[in-house]
Amino acid sequence: MITRRFASFASTSTKKFSLPKNIRQLLEPTDITLDTAKSSTVSGWITSIRKQKRVSFAVISDGSTSKSLQAVLINGKDDNILRRLTNGAAVRLTGQLVASPGSGQSHELLVDEKTGGVIEVLGECDPETYPIQKKALTPEYLRDHAHLRARTAHIAAMLRLRDVLGRRINSWFEDQGFCSVNTPIITASDCEGAGEAFKLSPIQSRHPASTSATPSPTTPPPPSEFFNSPAYLTVSHQLHLEALATSLSRVYTLSPCFRAEPSDTSKHLAEFWMLEAEWAFPTPDGVLGVCDLTEALIRSIGSEVRQKDDLEAIAKLKSTGDKDYLANAFESEAPWARMTYTEAVKELQTAVSQGVKFEYQPQWGRPLQSEHELYLAETLIGGPVFVTDYPATLKPFYMRLNPDEKTVACFDLLVPHIGELVGGSVREERADILERQMREAGLIAKDDPTGQNSSYKWYLDLRKFGGAPHAGFGMGFERLVGWLSGVHNIRECIPMPRWAGRMLL
Ligand code: 4AD
Repeated sequence: MITRRFASFASTSTKKFSLPKNIRQLLEPTDITLDTAKSSTVSGWITSIRKQKRVSFAVISDGSTSKSLQAVLINGKDDNILRRLTNGAAVRLTGQLVASPGSGQSHELLVDEKTGGVIEVLGECDPETYPIQKKALTPEYLRDHAHLRARTAHIAAMLRLRDVLGRRINSWFEDQGFCSVNTPIITASDCEGAGEAFKLSPIQSRHPASTSATPSPTTPPPPSEFFNSPAYLTVSHQLHLEALATSLSRVYTLSPCFRAEPSDTSKHLAEFWMLEAEWAFPTPDGVLGVCDLTEALIRSIGSEVRQKDDLEAIAKLKSTGDKDYLANAFESEAPWARMTYTEAVKELQTAVSQGVKFEYQPQWGRPLQSEHELYLAETLIGGPVFVTDYPATLKPFYMRLNPDEKTVACFDLLVPHIGELVGGSVREERADILERQMREAGLIAKDDPTGQNSSYKWYLDLRKFGGAPHAGFGMGFERLVGWLSGVHNIRECIPMPRWAGRMLL
């Protein structure tokens, strides 16, 4: 019966699905065979147009590549079509892909209605009011037009760079036996303990208890929190990753993080993406082994993307570039520098004694300020530098205490122009020391001897039940994009930037 019902389908073979080729797919093969009898169709937006009496030249971009395709349009009788071909208009053009006599492009699309060519205007664009004009537009102006700024060549290139980096990251972690996981965006904890989490609540209370028609005097009042306890947007996925690493061993995620940072700087966003990894059973060489893994990852993905055309397109936005720190980082075989926090502070103090001026005096026990980080990476080292073993008092509760009991097995990777790119550590796996650190951080109350009432009890449990040595790190994705591309304001390294006092769309 069932066989008969589906018999008609059995004979039909599955049709292979594919969308029409985009400009990258049309132009990328080095051996494009030109068959003038065959027509090609290109859909995209006009990025510039030059109209002459008999012929018009339109540059078409579809965002698939930093290269655009020139279409040579033989003007037909319909002036109306010609009038609608303007900068920004969406078009579909059918014609012949032919070798281009012009320089700067190998091929062009010849569209001649007499030989079957078709020009279709799918979406008109008023050239007078279109905000993305051909002239140079400032980053500030483009941020004000966040919904349209991806139409510019360099922002589109940055978006493709993000895409390529994301793919390379996935394949690097896959090669190393990591599992990609999805951790919650809504959390009950403030992982970094810096008080920068956004608190979450519904616009109006929709708790079931509050919607009952006539509350009786004995009905308890509805809880003030949707989840019965405070909820936040995550500042870091680390703690949840640690839970998953106790089962899957090696896990990572590239996910959004949110921080209510009041700082109005070119390196801080309120919503950004972080690549975070946690792995159990790390190599026995402590924090230096964590640095080794981090360096291997960044070198691998960075070297690959440095070959890409998109970096050239982005170069138009570059804020600096006198000295090619990137070449130092990626073209030399020498491992990136490593120094302890204590050594770093001594170097900074030496610099001060030699006349270098800092706003904040470097001193052991105080945080390294952005000016110190940039001095270390740019002036002292001239490339990336791992600074390890910071004082425990400067770092969050989860980092592994060193035998000196003053410092923790952690690192910050500092790079020129950006400052801190990555933060990571060996995690404290010894339950008794972790509990002490959590009490000191105020995560377990003094009057809670067993920690039963702490909302972080589950985190302590991870150590009590088969707690294994493990380590991890977090890298700001926009800072990575900014460092590799030379675009040092990370507001240009995310599609729609949000920062304190500013959220469009
Ligand atoms: O040093 P952070 O605060 O470390 C953590 O959150 C750890 N829990 C990560 C981990 O070990 N899994 O942040 C890590 C990185 C920083 O080095 C920086 O690159 C980036 O996240 N970052 C920001 N990027 C953009 N805007 C912000 N407001 C950022 N805050 C941190």
